[in-house]
Amino acid sequence: MEDTNAQRMQHEVVLIKGDGIGPEISDAVKKVFHAAGAPVKFIEHDAGMAALDKGDDVLPESTVEAMRSVGISLKGPCTTPIGKGFTSVNVGIRKSLNLYAALRPVRSLEGVKTRFDDVDLIVIRENTEGLYAGIENEVTDGVVASMKVATNKACHRIAHWAFRYATHRQRQKITVFHKANIMKLSDGLFIKEARNVHHQDYPNIKYEEAIIDAGCMRLVQNPGQFDILLLENLYGDVVSDLCAGLVGGLGVVPGANYGDSVACFEAVHGSAPDIAGKGIANPLAFIMSSVMMLNYIADEKRDESCGKVADAIRQGYNACLREGFKTGDLGGELSTADFTQELIKRLGKEA
Ligand code: NAI
Repeated sequence: MEDTNAQRMQHEVVLIKGDGIGPEISDAVKKVFHAAGAPVKFIEHDAGMAALDKGDDVLPESTVEAMRSVGISLKGPCTTPIGKGFTSVNVGIRKSLNLYAALRPVRSLEGVKTRFDDVDLIVIRENTEGLYAGIENEVTDGVVASMKVATNKACHRIAHWAFRYATHRQRQKITVFHKANIMKLSDGLFIKEARNVHHQDYPNIKYEEAIIDAGCMRLVQNPGQFDILLLENLYGDVVSDLCAGLVGGLGVVPGANYGDSVACFEAVHGSAPDIAGKGIANPLAFIMSSVMMLNYIADEKRDESCGKVADAIRQGYNACLREGFKTGDLGGELSTADFTQELIKRLGKEA
């Protein structure tokens, strides 16, 4: 793309390729950015298995420091062993950098047929507390306990973030999913802070609450009744994947983790070990996350060229989907590399 401004300014971004399909989808983003003339310089750092393989810590301090000092990162998925082994790199990054707000836009895509064609949901997840605090212990032989942590500071902070986001984006309604009927103190605090923020600062945004089990039932019956969903950490994790299922699956839902001055963009999906190395992963969720990142850079660094490149990439993948160029998870036949090439051919071509 012709854009002298884009050629002048280069924004540094930390790239963590991640594990499993991470390197494949990272290569797709790099190719698309190159073809689109994205004014971004990737500085690569390791985390997860890639770091371990090089004899480093699973989450090297140098990686966290780079993410902090550069301020913007694009992160591939990192594998976490189940039931044993090291603690989650993803959780470690979010905690170390205080990336307290996860944002996951879930939208229907033309060309991706699902039960619904009008989904437009925003999932906002508290990213630092809840059962994800990972405080577990063996109380006695055969008895274990996990502690669910909630602080009024973090509950207030995420509620404020969500209402501020709703206001800026002119969204109409926030629904909190909770289980305060059972977890009266922890989920009780979450809804108390959300109610307070709504009442005191954002009375013009509609606010409602739903007990999460019934909320999920309503979500799969009629997602159009929701606008923004606000959830504590674990519920946000689970409901994000549920919402992905409404629009075509994990291959099409991007995400971002925000702190006060640091942001990390990553797809909702994991490292997909079942398809890693086969060249068939859908790179779209990661490409969409990179588009969110470009729009963030456009706002933060006041560089319009980033917004233009983001639009061109978005138009490119929309054109691909509409014309039936898709990877296997969406019912198509393209490999990761072929889909990436088709997208590149259509950069900036919405019609
Ligand atoms: P997953 O999201 O990796 O995969 C679930 C299913 O969706 C698999 O069948 C996979 O093949 C498919 N899938 C996911 N992304 C896809 C894509 N882009 N294209 C095509 N198919 C795709 O979840 P799973 O299997 O539960 O977790 C695998 C590993 O990923 C675990 O170690 C987990 O801890 C980690 N994980 C990491 C995350 C992160 O880095 N933010 C988020 C979620 C999981």
